[in-house]
Amino acid sequence: MPSSYGLMLLLLLLLMVLSYNASPVNKCLREKSCKTRPPVVLIPGDLGNQLEAKLDKPSVVHYVCYKKTDDYFTLWLNLELLVPVAIDCWIDNMRLIYNQTTRSTEAPPGVIVRVPGFGKTYPLEFLDPSKRTVGIYFFAIVQALVDWGYTRDEDVRGAPYDWRKAPNENKAYFLELQKMIEEMAEKYGSPVLLMAHSMGNMYTLYFLNQQPQAWKDRYIKAFVALAPPWGGVTKTLRVVASGDNDHIPLISPLKIRSQQRTAVTTTWLFPYANSWSADQVLVSTPNANYTLRDYQRFFSDVGFPEGWAMRQDTEPLVSALEPPGVTVHCLYGSGVPTAEAFHYDASFPDVEPSVVEGDGDGTVNLVSATQCRRWSGRQPQPVHLVELPGNEHVAMLLNGTTVAYIKNVVLSP
Ligand SMILES: *[C@@H]1O[C@H](CO)[C@@H](O)[C@H](O)[C@H]1NC(C)=O
Ligand SMILES: *[C@@H]1O[C@H](CO)[C@@H](O)[C@H](O)[C@H]1NC(C)=O
Ligand SMILES: *[C@@H]1O[C@H](CO)[C@@H](O)[C@H](O)[C@H]1NC(C)=O
Repeated sequence: MPSSYGLMLLLLLLLMVLSYNASPVNKCLREKSCKTRPPVVLIPGDLGNQLEAKLDKPSVVHYVCYKKTDDYFTLWLNLELLVPVAIDCWIDNMRLIYNQTTRSTEAPPGVIVRVPGFGKTYPLEFLDPSKRTVGIYFFAIVQALVDWGYTRDEDVRGAPYDWRKAPNENKAYFLELQKMIEEMAEKYGSPVLLMAHSMGNMYTLYFLNQQPQAWKDRYIKAFVALAPPWGGVTKTLRVVASGDNDHIPLISPLKIRSQQRTAVTTTWLFPYANSWSADQVLVSTPNANYTLRDYQRFFSDVGFPEGWAMRQDTEPLVSALEPPGVTVHCLYGSGVPTAEAFHYDASFPDVEPSVVEGDGDGTVNLVSATQCRRWSGRQPQPVHLVELPGNEHVAMLLNGTTVAYIKNVVLSP
C-alpha cells in the first residue's frame, strides 16, 4: 500500500510538472513569446460605469423621494431620476460628504452606493441598463472585439469603479484590478492589454506607476489611452463655479452643481502646471483673474472652500506624469471646440459664463491629451501618438478609425 501510494504521488507530481511546462500560458509568459491575442481590460472614465444604490435614510429632501428601498437600484445612469423634482432626490443620494479630519468622503447617512459588475463589460458598455442609445459607451469596441473572436467577461473584461472618488480613496479597486490582470494573463497565456477612456487613463497611470517594472513586463502588453486628460481639463472650473448640465436642457446647472462639487474627481481634474502655463487666465470675473496658482482663492470665492482641501489631497497622485513603463498608444480627438477659459459677469459664480474655445475633443484640451508625448524616449517602451481630427470625446469610441486602430493593436503579434 505505502509504495503504490508513493507511486501515485510521484505520478501526480510528474503530471503537474508536465502540465506546467506544457501550459502555453506559462511558457509564453516566461519566454515573452505570446502569439495569442492579448486579453483586454477596459477602464472607464468619469461617469463611465453604472452605479447602484440602496437606501435606508433618516430623512429625505422632498416627500416624493424614496427613504428606504428593499434592494439596490440603478443610480447611474437612470434618466428617470434626472427629471425635475426626482433630480433633487438623486442629488441627495449621489452627493458625497467630505470629512476634513479624515480627508476622505462618505455617502450621506443611510445611502449605500456600490459598483455593479466588476470584471464584466455590461456596466460600461451601456451606462443605462435599459440600453438606450443615450447611454451607449464602450459597446462598439466590445462588440468589435467579440466579432474578432473575444468573449465578453472572459478575455475582455471591465474594471468599473466609483468614479466620484480619486485613486486615494479607491485602494481596494487597485488590488482587485491587479488580481484580475494576473488571472487573465495566466488563463489566456498572454500579457494583458489595458484600454482606458478619459479619466480612466489617470487611474491606469496611477496604477502602473505603483507597479514594479518586473510586474509590468510580465503582465502588461500595452496601454491604449483613449482621450486622456493627463494634465486635467479646463471645463472642470466651470463645473465647480456654476455647474455643467452637459447640454441637457432639463437639468439646471446650478442645481447639478451641488452634486458635481462633492465628487472629488472634479477637482482632481482641474488643470495642472504640467500642461498649463502659470499665467494663463482660466476664469475671469469683473473682480478677479484666476490662473492655476489661484485655486485656493477660486474655491473660496465660489463658496466651496473644501474644494481646496480635496485638490491638495489628490493633486500629487499623477501630477508628475511619470512614464507608465509599458507600450502606450495614445489616441485623442482634435479640432472640436473645447472650453479653454470662462468669463463671468458680476453675478459670478451663480450664472452661466461665456466660453473661450480652443482645440481639443470638446472635453479634453489638446494640450492635456498630448502630454503622452513627454514619455517618448523617457521609457524604453514605444509611445505612439494618434491624432483623430474631428473626433468628439465620447463619440471617438464609436468611430471606425478608433476601432480599426484597436484591431491592429490586438491582432498584431
Ligand atoms: C470625521 O471623521 C472623524 C473620524 O472618523 C469623526 O470623528 C467625525 O465625526 C467626522 N466628522 C463628520 C462631520 O462627520
Ligand atoms: C484680468 O486680466 C485682464 C487681461 O490681462 C486685465 O485687463 C484685467 O484688468 C484683469 N482683471 C483684474 C480684476 O485683475
Ligand atoms: C472618424 O475619425 C476619423 C479620423 O479622425 C475622421 O476623419 C472621421 O470623420 C470620423 N468619422 C465619423 C463618422 O465621425
